[in-house]
Amino acid sequence: VLDSNGVFELFWKYNNTHITFEAHVKTLGYVGFGLSPHGQMFPADVVIGWVKDGTVHFKDRHSTGHYEPIIDKSQDWILLSGKEENGKTILKFVRKLRTCDKDDRSIEEGTTKVIFSWHPEDPQHETGLPFHGDSNKGAKNLLLLSPAQHRHLPADAIKFDFVNKQTLIPNKDTYYHCTPYRLPKLDKKHHMVMFEPTIEKGHEDFVHHIIVYKCPAHVNYTDAMLANEYECYANDYKHPMELRDCTSSAFLAWAVGGGPMYMPEKVGFPLGDDDDSGVFILETHYNNPTLKSGVIDSSGLRMYYTPTLRKIDGDTLYTGLAVYEMQVIPPGYPKFASTGYCSSECTSKRLGHLPEGIHVFAVFPHSHLLGHAVRNRIVRNGEELMINDDENYDFDYQEARLMNKEFIIKAGDTIKTQCIYKSDDKDHITVGGISTRQEMCIGFLMYYPKVDFGICASIPQYNQYLDDKTQHKPAKLRELLNARDWKNETVRAEFQKVTDETMHVMSCGSHQGYKMVSF
Ligand SMILES: *[C@@H]1O[C@H](CO)[C@@H](O)[C@H](O)[C@H]1NC(C)=O
Ligand SMILES: *[C@@H]1O[C@H](CO)[C@@H](O)[C@H](O)[C@H]1NC(C)=O
Ligand SMILES: *[C@@H]1O[C@H](CO)[C@@H](O)[C@H](O)[C@H]1NC(C)=O
Repeated sequence: VLDSNGVFELFWKYNNTHITFEAHVKTLGYVGFGLSPHGQMFPADVVIGWVKDGTVHFKDRHSTGHYEPIIDKSQDWILLSGKEENGKTILKFVRKLRTCDKDDRSIEEGTTKVIFSWHPEDPQHETGLPFHGDSNKGAKNLLLLSPAQHRHLPADAIKFDFVNKQTLIPNKDTYYHCTPYRLPKLDKKHHMVMFEPTIEKGHEDFVHHIIVYKCPAHVNYTDAMLANEYECYANDYKHPMELRDCTSSAFLAWAVGGGPMYMPEKVGFPLGDDDDSGVFILETHYNNPTLKSGVIDSSGLRMYYTPTLRKIDGDTLYTGLAVYEMQVIPPGYPKFASTGYCSSECTSKRLGHLPEGIHVFAVFPHSHLLGHAVRNRIVRNGEELMINDDENYDFDYQEARLMNKEFIIKAGDTIKTQCIYKSDDKDHITVGGISTRQEMCIGFLMYYPKVDFGICASIPQYNQYLDDKTQHKPAKLRELLNARDWKNETVRAEFQKVTDETMHVMSCGSHQGYKMVSF
């Protein structure tokens, strides 16, 4: 359903070469549908169709401004059928994913922004269409070429809510709230099979992301350690040190725009196994740029788990850049690439015992406001292979995406997670950090079988400028970079090269915590 009133329903299916759409729209007039990079009417690749006196009218068009789209010379969106039924207009049409017509947009994996409109009346002619107005239109992000989730819950599924217990959102721009949870004791292994956001109504703009971390099993957590909620990542060290290593394993992750996540039928994330302390941390990132006071929130994630075990244990691997201010994005770039690595030494160490490798079945890319693409790839024997690229990443639509074909990562592979940032409307340096207006570059990879591998991420050192003896490296780096003229293209190109070639420090984490190594 594309609009909030349930007027415009869209169905689709695809294969390697074609996509077939069926639009069911509550109108007996015309229907508009299209692809638009910014969700605007211009520029856009569109179709407009209607049924009048039993005849279907349907044309492939494109916009040349914010007015009636013109008819393409090459008609590449092909009508299959059209009818009016129960007050709805139903149009079925097919097109190639890549038509090679310059007036059409290609459809690729990753985020696609679609636009849609309708009008209560049929046009008289193919041109001079009545305007749909501001209320009968919209735009929506979709993952057109990702498999649909199999939305089925087992009958014996047990519900558990990781929710905020009436957290007062402080009147500050960015606030991370941490709530420890102990799950009811499980007498045997269970499988987590689904989780979904439970965002309090009206709080959609405040709740930016939620992660549930699983704490390492080797620690004896007392009730006293878990008694208090606290501000995550605060430097006051008020929270128990024993909880510090919990962030090495993300168990559930959700961010703005995302929906429920059903695990594939054969996979479950284990609970109650040897690796499970039963202790979790619910981390909620609140975003409050207008500094509103007195908002009390009880949003969270609801998970379902079952005693009926599935075939394989799954888990989540954090890849990309560790969140730290050594990630820098200077102003002035239409495209700036930051890349985080998981070295081949690390994959060898964690996957060496598993010749068949791990199967990535879903990817949840995450970056912040400057992020425009997130690419997850590996390098194997000198060759770069794509796990999953989203070239149209949208901060407001962060959905875990199932893979069309599972990707196998093996010992010795180098994993690269690269984010492309657009900073040409900035006048200052953006650094890595936990605020929405700082940046992140993370590819959460969901995989099976579960191995002792929770995080594999890196931090650039900018060793071309800073040696190991430099004190307060991030501050020194910013001082050096602030002195540069970012309007100068040569300066920008030089810094991209430095970023691409810098050494990194890596964390190659197990579920017991992580330590940093250089490479
Ligand atoms: C892909 O879908 C199109 C449109 O339905 C169809 O014509 C084509 O045969 C399909 N290709 C394959 C390989 O199934
Ligand atoms: C865990 O700590 C508590 C409190 O210190 C203690 O009573 C208990 O015996 C410990 N359990 C284990 C398994 O070490
Ligand atoms: C841009 O920077 C380069 C390298 O620092 C310098 O040689 C060049 O003169 C600068 N160009 C302009 C227009 O300032």
